Amino acid sequence: MNPTEPRSGPGALSEQRGFVSTQPTAASNSSQERQQALLQVDHLESGYDETRVLWDVSLEVRRGELVALIGANGAGKSTLLATLSGLLPAWTGYIRFAGHDITHRRAEEIVRLGLSHVPQGRRLFSALTVEENLLLGAYTRRAGSQQAIKQELEEVYTLLPKLRERRRQLAGSLSGGEQQMCAIGRGLMSHPELLLIDELSLGLAPQVVDDLLNALDVIHREKGLSLLLVEQDVQIALERADRAYVLENGHIVLEGTGSELLQNERVRTAYLGT
Ligand SMILES: Nc1ncnc2c1ncn2[C@@H]1O[C@H](COP(=O)(O)OP(=O)(O)OP(=O)(O)O)[C@@H](O)[C@H]1O
Ligand SMILES: [Mg+2]
Repeated sequence: MNPTEPRSGPGALSEQRGFVSTQPTAASNSSQERQQALLQVDHLESGYDETRVLWDVSLEVRRGELVALIGANGAGKSTLLATLSGLLPAWTGYIRFAGHDITHRRAEEIVRLGLSHVPQGRRLFSALTVEENLLLGAYTRRAGSQQAIKQELEEVYTLLPKLRERRRQLAGSLSGGEQQMCAIGRGLMSHPELLLIDELSLGLAPQVVDDLLNALDVIHREKGLSLLLVEQDVQIALERADRAYVLENGHIVLEGTGSELLQNERVRTAYLGT
């Protein structure tokens, strides 16, 4: 299938082709770039051993977009992110990122191309310091010079000043919010064009979540970073997202703008309890 061909998933709320972000970014200058998806996923299937988890999943993230992925526990959200970032093999289907077919690329090559994944549960090295954890995020950098890495570290510390304060502290002794900050900082150290974040707010106080989202908003707007956010707080996710997808039992069942999905009855009943 031609990856730029319009399509809509089962039960799609609306055809989103031609969508223009309401928040123009540095990366969305040319209209051609704006139209072309940064990440294009077509008919993707994957799972574990004999167990299929994802069924015919198609979605896209355009340059400069914040896209949310919502769904109940066990729907396959983490499995999808792991497949996109090359941690799990794709069984069938097609994943294109920044003009490259990454369907069967290795995880570190995918990071090098500009797609970075902040996993659920953070997966920090607890016996290493904050700065050592951050530097590990840079090992696959596209431009890996010491100077570039120093500059990236400086940018992460400017964006998330708490990390600078804590840079000599062992990651295992950080609070939950600081650990999430460190995991996001580590993801940013590879200088991504697209950051996948799995369960940003899990276990964190609302103020901490707000601070993290505001920091992400800064890089989203100022640097054109695109984001695919898995978030269990559906209200927050849909309020912030340009567009969103709903995953149920491994199938994409709905897609639309954040505000469309906030109004959607199925979403309201199943995920917002209203
Ligand atoms: N390593 C694994 N081996 C076998 N099955 C797994 C593995 N990881 C996840 N699964 C199964 O795959 C399905 C999807 O899990 P996944 O973690 O992707 O869901 P999720 O939407 O991220 O859920 P949550 O909201 O709880 O994080 C579940 O049935 C789960 O039990
Ligand atoms: Mg998960």
